[in-house]
Amino acid sequence: MSALKRIKIDNFRNLKDIDLDLRPEVNLLVGDNGSGKTSFMEAIHVLSVGKSFRTARVDPLLADGQDQFLVYAELFSGDRVGLQRDLTTTPTLRLNSEPQSGWKEIAPLMPIQVLNSDSFLLVDGGAGIKRRFIDWAMFHVEHSYLGRWRNYRRLVQQRNALLKLNPRDIQSQLSIWDEELAKSGEEMHILRKQLLKSYIPFLLRTITEFLPAIDISIDYKKGWPRGMPLHQALFDSRAKDTKYRATTLGPHRADVAISSAGLPASEVLSRGQIKLVACALKISMSRYLSQIKAEQGCPAYTITFLIDDLASELDANSSGAVLDALISSKNQCIFTAITGGDLARVSDLTETSGKFHVEHGKIRAVKPAV
Ligand SMILES: Nc1ncnc2c1ncn2[C@@H]1O[C@H](COP(=O)(O)OP(=O)(O)OP(=O)(O)O)[C@@H](O)[C@H]1O
Ligand SMILES: [Mg+2]
Repeated sequence: MSALKRIKIDNFRNLKDIDLDLRPEVNLLVGDNGSGKTSFMEAIHVLSVGKSFRTARVDPLLADGQDQFLVYAELFSGDRVGLQRDLTTTPTLRLNSEPQSGWKEIAPLMPIQVLNSDSFLLVDGGAGIKRRFIDWAMFHVEHSYLGRWRNYRRLVQQRNALLKLNPRDIQSQLSIWDEELAKSGEEMHILRKQLLKSYIPFLLRTITEFLPAIDISIDYKKGWPRGMPLHQALFDSRAKDTKYRATTLGPHRADVAISSAGLPASEVLSRGQIKLVACALKISMSRYLSQIKAEQGCPAYTITFLIDDLASELDANSSGAVLDALISSKNQCIFTAITGGDLARVSDLTETSGKFHVEHGKIRAVKPAV
């Protein structure tokens, strides 16, 4: 929950021998197409959560001709996180020199949100992307949520395995699984519903800042019929589930419907407006999390935003509104741009901002003019 102070990257895509001191708030990376800006963000993402936002594979991340990459970060909290990866062995991940078997301890320390061209998918993509976004926030509010979520997934998988057997042999076993699954699913739903109830007012306020003239409404669909206990819904859908050999109802099927004037937002809004709603979803979540963390006794909670090419598809007023919201949030922001002029207001160096030039896989800090 702390900003990134120092980043070292080696042999990650075209990046070699990178060693940068970042600013706790505003950072701008400027460079031509193909210079390595997105790769820099991708390396931070891989370090924070174990995977890229561009590929599920490891081999494209290794610099051509190299057999391992390294990404290392020092946080302003003093924590140190290092990752070394190759194609054949399990990743070597360390937190403060201690080997880690996964990202469970690291992900809460360095919360990351990406704003890039894929962020559109939060508005016009499938329900899974929206669920992952809500679950990401749930995990950062309450780390034990991850255990609950994994337990629920395991129960769904076990029920699905049962549904693949002969229907005549499984009815009594299904009753046992349904009871456990319904209990776990209802608990997950209650947690998500509580989060959304508090978060949606933040979201609507932020949407009004970015799109004052547009009517947007948000509707959480829990994944089974309203007003019905999950246990009952699972019982009622047994014939269908047996036919499809899968559990078709439950919080793993939840969705967040985003509408404008009564129609799906993706069918009504322009590309730029969709991007603004996506930015609002992420920025308002950081505002909500700051408040929750302050209430939990952690007032300096910081997310690192990786904002790739904000200016594309947004006019000057719109990108200005998003910039203001990001900068005033006091989160750490790492922006990229092709030229400093694309984000002129960020480009003006101040004492609290850092500017970097990216060229052919090398990154150097631009010193403020004296
Ligand atoms: N595994 C790899 N090894 C070496 N170079 C790679 C590898 N994968 C991609 N590249 C190259 O790395 C360069 C940097 O790509 P990146 O996407 O980071 O550029 P960018 O600065 O974000 O460009 P743009 O402004 O076009 O988005 C590209 O030239 C790309 O072809
Ligand atoms: Mg790029």
